[in-house]
Amino acid sequence: MAIRHIVQYGEDVVLRKVCRSQLTFDEKLAQTLDDMAETMYKANGVGLAAPQVGLLRRYCVVDVGDGLIELVNPVIIEKHGHQFDQEGCLSIPGRYENVERPMYVKVRAQNRKGETIIVEGEGFKARAFCHEIDHLDGIVFLDRVAEQR
Ligand code: CO
Repeated sequence: MAIRHIVQYGEDVVLRKVCRSQLTFDEKLAQTLDDMAETMYKANGVGLAAPQVGLLRRYCVVDVGDGLIELVNPVIIEKHGHQFDQEGCLSIPGRYENVERPMYVKVRAQNRKGETIIVEGEGFKARAFCHEIDHLDGIVFLDRVAEQR
């Protein structure tokens, strides 16, 4: 495993691109997911998306304290409720803003083997899923702040 460089906001357009689907489930993907988890934990983050390590692919890692979740090609298939709370991003250190998110989301994704998985998130976990999946569409949380104004 290896720590990857976390792309900082404004440093690279990679954070502003729509990522492509991940179609191969090989050793390289497994290695990248391992690296991303290690990088996230080292930075004391709760989520990290592929574009944040310079890869325009649709996958991310999330751990809000109850275990590591790897989401490849994630799609939010259900959401309800609202929450309004503080959010930050490893690519935008020192900035924390209130962002509106659903209180609950259900996500369909694939695991590192390409198997379909369904995961649910409530509260902070729902927030983390939404934040990371936004990254795969080139959206950062500051865009959501602007949206609310
Ligand atoms: Co982020």
